[in-house]
Amino acid sequence: MDCKRYIAEKLNIDGFDAGTVAGYIETPPDTTLGDYALPCFFLAKILRNSPVKIAENLKSVFVTDEVITECNAVGGYLNFKINRRGFAKNLLSEIAEKGARYGSADFGAGKTICIDYSSINIAKPFHIGHLSTTVIGSALCKIFRFLGYKVVGINHLGDYGTQFGKLIVAYKLWSDREKVIKGRLKELTRIYVKFHEEAKSNPALEDDARRYFHLIEQGDKESNELFDLFKKITLEEVDKIYKMLNVTFDSYAGESFYNDKMAPVVEELKEKNLLTVSDGASIVDLEEYGMPPCLILKSDGSSLYATRDIAAAIYRKNTYDFDKCLYVVAYQQNLHFKQFFKVIELMGKPWAKDLIHVAYGMVSLESGSMSTREGKVVLLEDVINKTVEKAYKVIEEKNPALKDKDKVARAVGTGAVIFGALSNNKIKDIVFSYDRVLSFEGETCPYVQYTITRCFSVLKKAGATGKVQEFTVPEMCESEYAVISELGKFPNVVKSAAEKYEPSFVTRYAIDLAQAFSKFYIDCKIACEDENLRNFRLAITDAVKTVLINALTLLGIDYVEEM
Ligand code: ARG
Repeated sequence: MDCKRYIAEKLNIDGFDAGTVAGYIETPPDTTLGDYALPCFFLAKILRNSPVKIAENLKSVFVTDEVITECNAVGGYLNFKINRRGFAKNLLSEIAEKGARYGSADFGAGKTICIDYSSINIAKPFHIGHLSTTVIGSALCKIFRFLGYKVVGINHLGDYGTQFGKLIVAYKLWSDREKVIKGRLKELTRIYVKFHEEAKSNPALEDDARRYFHLIEQGDKESNELFDLFKKITLEEVDKIYKMLNVTFDSYAGESFYNDKMAPVVEELKEKNLLTVSDGASIVDLEEYGMPPCLILKSDGSSLYATRDIAAAIYRKNTYDFDKCLYVVAYQQNLHFKQFFKVIELMGKPWAKDLIHVAYGMVSLESGSMSTREGKVVLLEDVINKTVEKAYKVIEEKNPALKDKDKVARAVGTGAVIFGALSNNKIKDIVFSYDRVLSFEGETCPYVQYTITRCFSVLKKAGATGKVQEFTVPEMCESEYAVISELGKFPNVVKSAAEKYEPSFVTRYAIDLAQAFSKFYIDCKIACEDENLRNFRLAITDAVKTVLINALTLLGIDYVEEM
């Protein structure tokens, strides 16, 4: 049961829907005044009264019941006390009953949401810069699915552009099929870097590259075979990483997919008098909106990144009829998204408002470390492997007798990488630190995973795995109730994470719940003598296990039963 919602519905405030009011209801850290509080300040403007008066008026008509046992107005706040025992009973049976579905909802039913994420570039190394878009996008897919939406995860591959002409030139000069198949992405990076070095003293290489790129576009067989080989190798390499991170896609339609879908778009822009020619290039003038022009065609008639994105958005609308289309892309591309969203609006598409740039900050490594071997880039695969290795060492130290050390190290290592990237508000730039993400103390993934193993071990020792025994809820101490209160928040956390496109709400929540459990674990003897009390505390433990697993699953992180 969602107490906030329940209170909001009971209040039934004129002009405000229950969802909005529920969103304002807080759970005060100090519960002596109440278990829930509604600050009435946001109501003042519309209800044209002071928050103090509003709180008093609302109190005077509020009728308490078996769930909400007290309502008091204190200085612009409405404080509520609930029947904690009744709440705990309902909540624990709800969690036991729903299990892996606890926290899910169906308000997305019938709605489709496209999520463009990861969107890597072919033949370029998959580096640490792609971590955020990959894990944020993947978590959003899982969160929206959990809420009943139909989700289309799209990897908008960067598989178009003169760099492919360069690669073909470089391949012909300094590599061959065998070398590429053996050396894979590293070989492709090597020849790409070499091309740029050589082109400095030999600019004719650039002309060759442009020629080959045109050949690809014109459907030349040999050039396209090479291009397909580069693409295949890149996708096989990144697929290994996607597997490690539990990331999947429904579509790999990348930039080149729109080669034959742009002409009608350019036509439409012309018809709607949106195109102007400037220095031979075709642009959409956006001066009126305080932005530089959006480039549609270069003077040689070739298309640009924005042209492809406009065609892609229209294609997605026609194909999936999305309610929303999200683009999980670094904030460095803010202007690009603003520009092409504007162009779509100017084309008269009412759904332009449903295109959303979910911007995030950059991930970098602590200075110096790791960056030498690969030149400037730090490969994501190396970061994951190194984290898994470190996790393995920690396990060797702390629990050498553990079974399945490899599996545990993988879950802990990759979990640490994912959780680390999702721990901050997404717009912040973050510095990735191996030691920090792997710490068993503090606000880290291993801490959450460790808490889960603790739950498993308590339940196993008590012979209580599988089913929750009967109990009546006793008078609770603060640390017991604190866990109950956290458990009850989960459905709302998932919902807010979706509304704000902020998976970090889920990581934050997992930490809060794990911490509440740790306090409970220290303060209360779970496997105590009193049978009723023991069953109650085991039911709490079982619920914590379920909810922590649900939270990690939404983030694409595995758990283990022992570590
Ligand atoms: N491949 C691009 C890059 O690495 C990101 C593409 C994002 N998606 C999009 N529809 N523009 O910068």
